[in-house]
Amino acid sequence: MDHNTPRKIEHQQTDRGYIPVYATGVVEQPWSGYSRTDHEVWDTLYKRQRELLPGRACKEFLAGVERFGLGDGGIPKFADLNKVLGKATGWELVAVEGLLPDEVFFDHLANRRFPVSWWIRKPDQLDYLSEPDLFHDLFGHVPLLLNPVFADYMQAYGRGGMKAFGIGPEALMNLTRLYWYTVEFGLIDTGEGMRIYGAGIVSSKGESIYCLDSPAPNRIGFGLERVMSTRYRIDTYQQTYFVIDSFEQLFEATHPDFTPIYAKLRAEPAHAAADVLDGDRVFNRGTREGFATGADT
Ligand code: PHE
Ligand code: FE
Repeated sequence: MDHNTPRKIEHQQTDRGYIPVYATGVVEQPWSGYSRTDHEVWDTLYKRQRELLPGRACKEFLAGVERFGLGDGGIPKFADLNKVLGKATGWELVAVEGLLPDEVFFDHLANRRFPVSWWIRKPDQLDYLSEPDLFHDLFGHVPLLLNPVFADYMQAYGRGGMKAFGIGPEALMNLTRLYWYTVEFGLIDTGEGMRIYGAGIVSSKGESIYCLDSPAPNRIGFGLERVMSTRYRIDTYQQTYFVIDSFEQLFEATHPDFTPIYAKLRAEPAHAAADVLDGDRVFNRGTREGFATGADT
């Protein structure tokens, strides 16, 4: 642990046992406490996605999975991954119990620390669970932290989050949509075809197929204000995916000061998740087949 390691504040009884909790939500990864079933859940999910993702996930993601050795058998130790990650891009994984308050999450990212839920889902939750677990956080998010441009984007996002937090809830909502439609559910148009880079997709078997193969959802070229003003769904597969051309494009597009953009967007109504707008660069106009009709988030 380095000087960034936060002060331990107390031992806390959590749903999953009695563990020390630090002021920033960080815990020790209780690696020896994982059951045989926990390790089997990891191995099962890993194998399923590793077989599905070649030709679907972008090559930077797949390269990261291999470089970390995420399929070496059983749940990886964060300390081992951190040796690889620290050397590559200076990021560090920290174990957490679950979702953190926004400002704590942003502070971690701004300091190149990525919070990973230490616990893994149960065998009857392989296809869906409502909160992020170890498989989503680690398999989904961490491989791309080895990519220098994406690694810098994540840190810039953390800094931007601190700023948006100070501006107000509408700014924060605009920024959250950006995270949702890039980090969680982003697609990238490569020379070899459309590929996935979003963590919410690569950690889901169903959505890894749906997002590329289904005619139902829209696939639309990324635009900063377009994304920041578009609502999203948390209860179904996405109705629209936004497509970047490269990680450099994403990094450059998000470089400007967002303060005037937040002010401008505040005066405009948000778009529904399913909308296609004049001016969109449309890769696929969705058929909307099977779309839920209830309200977006
Ligand atoms: N440029 C943004 C701002 O000024 C910060 C940011 C960078 C946000 C990258 C998201 C991603 O607020
Ligand atoms: Fe996530």
